[in-house]
Amino acid sequence: MTTLLNDTADGKRTGRGGQGRSGEILAIRGGRPLRGTIEVKGAKNLVTKAMVAALLGETPSILRDVPELSDVAVVRSLLEVHGVTVADGDEPGSLVFDPSGAASAHFEEIDAHAGASRIPILFCGPLLHLLGEALIPDLGGCRIGDRPINFHMDALRAFGAIVDKSYEGIRITAPDGLHGANIELPYPSVGATEQVLLTAVKAKGVTELKNAAIEPEIMDLIAVLQKMGAIISYEPNRVILIEGVESLRGYDHRSIFDRNEAVSWACAALATDGEIFVDGAKQQEMLTFLNVFRKAGGWFDVQEHGILFRRGGPIKPVVVETDVHPGYMTDWQQPLIVALTQAEGESIVHETVYENRLGFTQALVKMGADIVVHPHGLEGGARRVPRRALEQAAVINGPTPLHGADIEVPDLRGGFSYVVAALAAEGESTVSGVGIISRGYEKFFDKLDALGADFDIVG
Ligand code: EPU
Repeated sequence: MTTLLNDTADGKRTGRGGQGRSGEILAIRGGRPLRGTIEVKGAKNLVTKAMVAALLGETPSILRDVPELSDVAVVRSLLEVHGVTVADGDEPGSLVFDPSGAASAHFEEIDAHAGASRIPILFCGPLLHLLGEALIPDLGGCRIGDRPINFHMDALRAFGAIVDKSYEGIRITAPDGLHGANIELPYPSVGATEQVLLTAVKAKGVTELKNAAIEPEIMDLIAVLQKMGAIISYEPNRVILIEGVESLRGYDHRSIFDRNEAVSWACAALATDGEIFVDGAKQQEMLTFLNVFRKAGGWFDVQEHGILFRRGGPIKPVVVETDVHPGYMTDWQQPLIVALTQAEGESIVHETVYENRLGFTQALVKMGADIVVHPHGLEGGARRVPRRALEQAAVINGPTPLHGADIEVPDLRGGFSYVVAALAAEGESTVSGVGIISRGYEKFFDKLDALGADFDIVG
């Protein structure tokens, strides 16, 4: 993190970073629209998986547009713990992974490097192919529900792996190697689909995966694996066929852009009545979001190198249901809800992917928002299609002026939204636990600074 600070006449520090400060607590003075340009790089949710895929190659891999995120640092350490050499590539933001020295690691070492991340679970397939065993520590990630790993473990068993749970974590072995399997996921899980892809590419025989996730980041992972020599076909109706091959080589790949970050800044422009050009954002992967953004009163202009976002008039209420791709992503509802607190009328957001991803709205209520969460969904509401028993719904009535408050970041996307709410609010807010935001937003404080946000790092 950079530590550029400007001392002001009254002795207060404004701007980026914080010498001697942990960057965990922000004092934010709201009411100033965010204006300017920020750049989004590679998607957290592809980059970390492509890094794991490098373990499958017999030659080094090069990944480009890698953002500086703590989740990336966690996966890098885990690769290094397993003997993979990681070095800077031939352009800024590129990394080279050389798996030729890959070796088993001790549980304690893995545990110490795993951090608060869900990615370690995706090391299973590549490590089983390489070393015949995989050790998985207790998994972290955002606290947004139970986040079970049953789909992952069931898939690995279908490939012939043996899963042993112990007090320290999970040990997975494959004494007879891994073979192709017919797998149908109970739900199109992103992580479980990646698990199957990363395992099936070198399993003996053909794997048919039904009810697969088809998010653009999954398609980009398939592109990475195809460059490595994998044979993967994407069939109609969420079916993916993988023909296992004997060996794979390294890849050279530029990551897909981070849609989640682009959406977050678009909502920040809407909520603060600002204007943000998101350099690197592309239309195709954001079609669903752009429709909702327009219906909510947002205006955007798709340009060659990015998309410009601002309000197009008053913010309007919308009804949104989160879903798997090509639906409205669960990671996009939190920043949108902040903007919807300023819409004229009633908005409804149905969360159908996770069971506990609307808890962050409590802090918005503390700031003056009128939001009621229905933990078991709305009876007879305006939903299009009934989905999962997990559903929760938030009813947002606006417009309600937001005022400053002391709030604590609950998770990655909720955390970003709190900062935006504080920027849109009248008065000063203290937002603590903002360190979590660096899991998914590169150079977050620098970007706020570039957009003219008025904040200090106070802890
Ligand atoms: N699920 C199970 N069992 C499993 C796996 C998933 O029941 O074994 C359930 C989950 O509990 C959840 C649903 O299936 O209700 C979907 O979970 P999924 O596996 O698709 O999510 P994930 O792979 O753990 C990724 C992203 C999330 C993003 C979701 C949905 C990464 C590292 N994480 O999580 O991103 O919200 O897909 O698109 O790729 C974020 O970036 O802030 C974030 C949380």
